Amino acid sequence: MSTKTTAIVTGASSGIGLAIAEKLHAEGYHVINWDLRAPAETHPNIRHVFCDVSSEEAVQKAVKESGDNIGVLVNNSGLQSMSPIAEFPLEKWNQLIGVMLTGTFLCTKSVIPSMKARKAGRIINISSVHGKLASPFKSAYVAAKHGVLGFAKVAAIELAPDSITVNTICPGFVDTPLMRNQVKSQMELNNLSEQEVLDRVFLKDSHIKQLTSPSQVADMVAFLCSKSASTITGEAYNISGGWGMGL
Ligand SMILES: NC(=O)c1ccc[n+]([C@@H]2O[C@H](COP(=O)([O-])OP(=O)(O)OC[C@H]3O[C@@H](n4cnc5c(N)ncnc54)[C@H](O)[C@@H]3O)[C@@H](O)[C@H]2O)c1
Repeated sequence: MSTKTTAIVTGASSGIGLAIAEKLHAEGYHVINWDLRAPAETHPNIRHVFCDVSSEEAVQKAVKESGDNIGVLVNNSGLQSMSPIAEFPLEKWNQLIGVMLTGTFLCTKSVIPSMKARKAGRIINISSVHGKLASPFKSAYVAAKHGVLGFAKVAAIELAPDSITVNTICPGFVDTPLMRNQVKSQMELNNLSEQEVLDRVFLKDSHIKQLTSPSQVADMVAFLCSKSASTITGEAYNISGGWGMGL
């Protein structure tokens, strides 16, 4: 097992998680990706452990396989499903809450012994601007992402005596497969071009009319892991082109 500090990133087989994993590797961490899906390409520097973060058994197994040198956890796994509340399938509701809210709880719980033993740790959750405001048809997503913010504040208070910080990042729209799938649905639904969907739907409320890149989110994670951020805890930062301004 490596003597480097271990950083766990959940959902790092794709999108924002992959960018975070690459950034933390560049920062000198031994990076482990807990994802139920294997990455499209094996990454030489990022170890993949199969894990469904919504299952306590799977998370316990993954944490055992990850050693006892865990100093960073990034709760990033996520998925989207849209439907009016009256038609929202319970199975989908349970899946979204299970991965994004229960998964954040289970992964956080699993790394506490390692971080307490080190008397140090950084936990960073990837919520969303939808953790602070709402859009129609995203009830499970919005509920899960709001829940993450509440959970993070409790964790920040409980873990502060052991110098473990807990912070949350709330992106607006980030250019990833999850986001591009939503663009495709809107193109089909409203018979619009990709640019029209971006302008009229996704970037409508942003003041900087630009998608955020996964690496920009990764850079903020790296900052929150740095010495400079040792007294920042219980906070939630937007990266949203001003969409979430004032929240
Ligand atoms: N892309 C955006 O615009 C955007 C905006 C705000 C917040 N976010 C959040 O950022 C995070 C990453 O999203 P992304 O856009 O990179 O999506 P993505 O689909 O590219 O990546 C999500 C990853 O989560 C993994 N995952 C799903 N279910 C899992 C489970 N049960 N256990 C373990 N891993 C699981 C997937 O396999 C995938 O690798 C999500 O939490 C998402 O809600 C994304």
